[in-house]
Amino acid sequence: MTIESNVKVSVPKKWMDGWDKIYSQMLSASDDELSRIDVGPRIQQLEHALAITESDTQSMRILELGCGDGSVACYLAKIGCNVVAIDALVSAIAVAQRRSKLLKLEDKVEFRLDDMDGWPLKPESYDVVIALQCLQYLFDRTIPRLREAIAAVKPGGFFVYSGNILPHMETDPPIRFVTEEELKAELDGWTYHGFGTEERMIKLDDLRGYVWTVARKPM
Ligand SMILES: C[S@@+](CC[C@H](N)C(=O)[O-])C[C@H]1O[C@@H](n2cnc3c(N)ncnc32)[C@H](O)[C@@H]1O
Repeated sequence: MTIESNVKVSVPKKWMDGWDKIYSQMLSASDDELSRIDVGPRIQQLEHALAITESDTQSMRILELGCGDGSVACYLAKIGCNVVAIDALVSAIAVAQRRSKLLKLEDKVEFRLDDMDGWPLKPESYDVVIALQCLQYLFDRTIPRLREAIAAVKPGGFFVYSGNILPHMETDPPIRFVTEEELKAELDGWTYHGFGTEERMIKLDDLRGYVWTVARKPM
């Protein structure tokens, strides 16, 4: 029997423990609950962009970094895409794999327990690369890995990103916010199918900023 343990990453243990608690609780959800996939607006925007560009989802290769509970990866596998999704937590991969099994998507999606910064990303190797609320936790490796993730998108493919910006509570160590200007500079020449910033009240004393995009690489 293989006993897997969480991959050691740059994120402080306290933060990883917080996410681990959420995914571990999800493991006791019913089959019905886990089979319901709820994806946010970024993935709906990607789906719309794929439709209007008449992209062939069946032949698409997608990489998702920091995939968490596997909702996004399963949603895209369900519309035919071939997805590889990475997370460093055993609990995240376990809940994601259970979800894909319940939805009979195991031949379309592979969940991998790994460091999202742990291997060389081949340039122009994926039709879509997705990084939602995760690259900022690579700290001094945030911008280099962001560049590699962007370079890994094939011409005509998509990059889907969201990350925090100010306002945000102070953290120790400080999160590496990728500002709106930095993100735009990295995506110079790309077509935006969506780009925005927003502020969301998480709790009464916790207002957080976000920047996001669904962007298409020039052909
Ligand atoms: C805030 S959650 C976001 C999860 C998901 N992308 C979402 O938007 O719901 C951050 C995720 O990144 C994962 N993570 C953080 N650092 C990582 C690393 N170096 N390699 C792989 N996964 C990592 C965590 O385990 C967690 O699942």
